[in-house]
Amino acid sequence: MRFKVFAAGLGAGLFASALFLAGPASAAEEIETAELLIKLLQAGRSVVAGHQDLINDASKGDKGFTPNYLADRIVQKFKEQTKIDLSKPADTPQYTLLLTLLESGKEVVAEAQPVINKQGVAFKGFLPAVWGRRTGEKFGQKTGIRLKLTAQEYRFPGNKPDEFELEVLKMFADPNYPKGKGYGKTTTMAGRPVFRLMAPEYAGSACLKCHGEPKGERDITGMKKEGIKEGGLAGAISLVIPVR
Ligand code: HEC
Repeated sequence: MRFKVFAAGLGAGLFASALFLAGPASAAEEIETAELLIKLLQAGRSVVAGHQDLINDASKGDKGFTPNYLADRIVQKFKEQTKIDLSKPADTPQYTLLLTLLESGKEVVAEAQPVINKQGVAFKGFLPAVWGRRTGEKFGQKTGIRLKLTAQEYRFPGNKPDEFELEVLKMFADPNYPKGKGYGKTTTMAGRPVFRLMAPEYAGSACLKCHGEPKGERDITGMKKEGIKEGGLAGAISLVIPVR
């Protein structure tokens, strides 16, 4: 493997900030932006996950899982993790971009209201990964920043890893790779300079009913389980940000 650039610590709090200094100075802001965007998407995914039982409740119509409800909780979670309060204008350089991502996530929940509030249906296909995918797509259309979920054994065709992502996923899957550590690299995409950052995602117990064992058995969504063990690598969030 030819990756020599900085590895960005994510998830397990392994912030390798010193390593960032080894990278080109122009990329420093992009690195921080990338990390914050991934954290915000992760916060949203966990808010959706935390409300999965509510969303899947067949007995309830109106669930109150509205765009503003979602946003309030994401803002709260994000503040706990980063000390950045998105509820008031800040001088954080990334503020506008973060708000755009939050806004994209709200739009996804707004569009899904009829599905979420459907009475008499338990599983509605509204999942953290689906929310994350749609949010990433909207965000990409607005900003040109690519933000997606991916995995070696992907379910959704659009989540298929590209060459770079596949190589990093294999690296994350290596038992000797430090758990929770993200990986970043300045490279080019379609001839343009970009900064790419990937953060590994591990399967907690809540993920196993769909992604766990036995491999090949159908889950609640009707898709085949991947056979991942608790704590095993489930995939990654991948971000591509143009570098000025
Ligand atoms: C109810 C079943 C279910 C649960 C629970 C679930 N997932 Fe998924 N997951 C899916 C489905 C379905 C997709 C495909 C989503 C789409 O259409 O983009 C997916 C997609 C993904 C992807 C993107 C790659 C791909 O397969 O397309 C990752 C990464 C992922 N899930 C990780 C997790 C993690 C980590 C958890 C626990 C925090 C989790 N999932 C919980 C069903 C589930």
